[in-house]
Amino acid sequence: MRAQAVTPVQFNPQSRTFRIDASDMTYAFAINERNELQTIYWGRRIASGDPLSVSKAPVRGASFDTPASTTQQEYSGWGGGMYVEPALKITFPDGNRNLVLHYLSHVLSNGGLTVTLKDISQDVFVELNYTVDTATGILGRSAVIINRTKLPLTIEQAASASWNLPRGMDYTLRYLSGRWAAEDTMNEENVRPGKTVLESRRGSTGHQNNPWFAIERGSSDDEEAGQVWFGALSWSGSWSISVEQDQLRQVRVTGGFSTFDFAYRLDPGERLRTPIFYAGYSSNGIGGASRLLHRFEFTKILPHAPEPHLRPIVYDSWEATGFKVDESGQEELAAKAASIGVERFVMDDGWFGQRKDDHAALGDWYVNPEKFPNGLKPLIDKVHSLGMDFGLWVEPEMVNPDSDLYRKHPEWALNFPGMPRSEARNQLVLNLARKDVRDYLFHFLDDLLSKNDIAFLKWDYNRNWSEPGWDAVASDKQKEVYVKYVENLYGILEQLRSKYPHVEIESCSGGGGRVDLGILGYTDEVWPSDNTDPFDRLTIQDGFSYAYAPGVMMAWVTDSPNWVNNRSTSIEYRFLSSMQGSLGVGANLAEWTPADFAKAKEMIETYKHIRETVQRGSLYRLISPQHDSQYSVTESVSLDKKQAILFTFLHSSQKNYPFPRVFFRGLDPDKQYHLRPIGNATKEDAPEVASGRYWMNRGIDVTLRGDFQAAAFLLESEAPQ
Ligand code: GLA
Repeated sequence: MRAQAVTPVQFNPQSRTFRIDASDMTYAFAINERNELQTIYWGRRIASGDPLSVSKAPVRGASFDTPASTTQQEYSGWGGGMYVEPALKITFPDGNRNLVLHYLSHVLSNGGLTVTLKDISQDVFVELNYTVDTATGILGRSAVIINRTKLPLTIEQAASASWNLPRGMDYTLRYLSGRWAAEDTMNEENVRPGKTVLESRRGSTGHQNNPWFAIERGSSDDEEAGQVWFGALSWSGSWSISVEQDQLRQVRVTGGFSTFDFAYRLDPGERLRTPIFYAGYSSNGIGGASRLLHRFEFTKILPHAPEPHLRPIVYDSWEATGFKVDESGQEELAAKAASIGVERFVMDDGWFGQRKDDHAALGDWYVNPEKFPNGLKPLIDKVHSLGMDFGLWVEPEMVNPDSDLYRKHPEWALNFPGMPRSEARNQLVLNLARKDVRDYLFHFLDDLLSKNDIAFLKWDYNRNWSEPGWDAVASDKQKEVYVKYVENLYGILEQLRSKYPHVEIESCSGGGGRVDLGILGYTDEVWPSDNTDPFDRLTIQDGFSYAYAPGVMMAWVTDSPNWVNNRSTSIEYRFLSSMQGSLGVGANLAEWTPADFAKAKEMIETYKHIRETVQRGSLYRLISPQHDSQYSVTESVSLDKKQAILFTFLHSSQKNYPFPRVFFRGLDPDKQYHLRPIGNATKEDAPEVASGRYWMNRGIDVTLRGDFQAAAFLLESEAPQ
């Protein structure tokens, strides 16, 4: 008899309960007596025979508490007395705004489940899709809203999912906030009655909040302890995630398209698909939660998942040359970059149109004939002859008013006709929701890639939207720009990737303004911040790592003093800071000393030896640099546990206090590991060889003293005797 495939999703027709078991997690919801879908469990995996059923309404009898509001629903319409954040809000043409979604049917599949809900009176259907990643227990949820009525309706709010947590008072919410050059600050606050909204109203993901959250039960100082529910939205347009604790202390997280300025006219027969909202559960603290997300990104999200390519060592010309790029200058930099072991040479802004500074030429994607009289070929050939591949900066979605493109097509920029158009960095945003704009973008990129041997695009996006008008369509369709723009962006990326499968892409938006699981489905890496100060980077990279893997986090070594804070640091400090992610170099190599070159060569060689562990391994944040910490320590352990690399940083010695002892984590207790100090680090009284058990329990003493000091240590196992 053939063994039956074990599906992670089960339906029990007696109790009308859906149950998902994956990895160390169980998630369950039921069809309740009113035919609503009600969450009944989300947490650590429980035994297969354990009873799961709909819990009784926590409060009965109060005339101010309607069941629609007090029931923890999987996906609720706004109607029937709903006072908390609904998932879906619709206005019908006759002014009716009541939407009550009840269970209709479901289909189980190998990878997940689709449940169809229907409004109690209108032919409005919602398909809820659930996908399950069995390795990490991360669920993906999205909704498809279908209009089978005879008239158009207006969707005013559409979330991907609501995630319900067990009732409680001791939750701590973590979220990331920031701004340009200061991304990914970690915030922690108690979840209290009321609502916290994380969002972007900017047309894209934004630097200000990242579409990621984690909620911890209690608040543990130990990253590896405690229960954590976490999630991330797969969308690169305006978005919102609300974290709400209701009057009964029930906590729900509802997220999807931004609820602000949203409207989508759904004609009869049409459907609207929301982005996917992923979420998971960890009983190993926030450290465990981020490792699950990292694994999930590698195996399920990135373009080459489950085996995304390791990041090559990049050189980028931006901080060295600014807009002053030309053939001979770039070739000189390329030769120097190759001499230290760089694998990919990227020419940044300045190579196209009449681009001299940021005032002109975005939109005119022809090679500047003064700077490159023979096109890009001589430079690309030179880069190849040096053993590197070639990458190029583009900013396809933008236009400078001073450009041929704008002079020809002023109507292509987002705008409200007759109203002022707010410029930022002297540029406007092209309305990519328009088909002609989409075609133009695809055509110029296709042309560029078909005529030049380009291995990599740094895809930039240097401002947010203003005046988001789309006057070419009917007024009740204009707000669809929020959805259609991003769908077209993803569409172009997908088309390019399938036509040029060898071309890799970086998502950059003035640093980390467009980092999310949506864009990571089409791009291989992201630029986390324009801030390349190696000390500031410690906190930015730390915050980043809660949601995203070091293997997509580009980190360049640049010059000292750094332009951001005028801070001076040693070249070794700069390398060690960047080696925690995907290493690159962005310094002006024309001014480097022979000693700089020698150190860079040594560090790049070391990085190549540890690259797979850093980029793909398990990350442990041993001491966080956040909240003005004097110290910062991270450790990465290879998946086979044969290699671990420890990075330690000291801000400033004070009163001669020694560095706290550092305890490794995640090693195999029974393996023997050899210790190797990296760069100038010294092992002091640490043994050369000891067991994983020793390194994790006895730890290592780091003797850093002074200001902006750093040291790294490598542990490598011997084959067992
Ligand atoms: C943005 C990017 C930088 C650089 C410049 C070029 O700011 O984040 O890395 O590419 O644009 O104009």
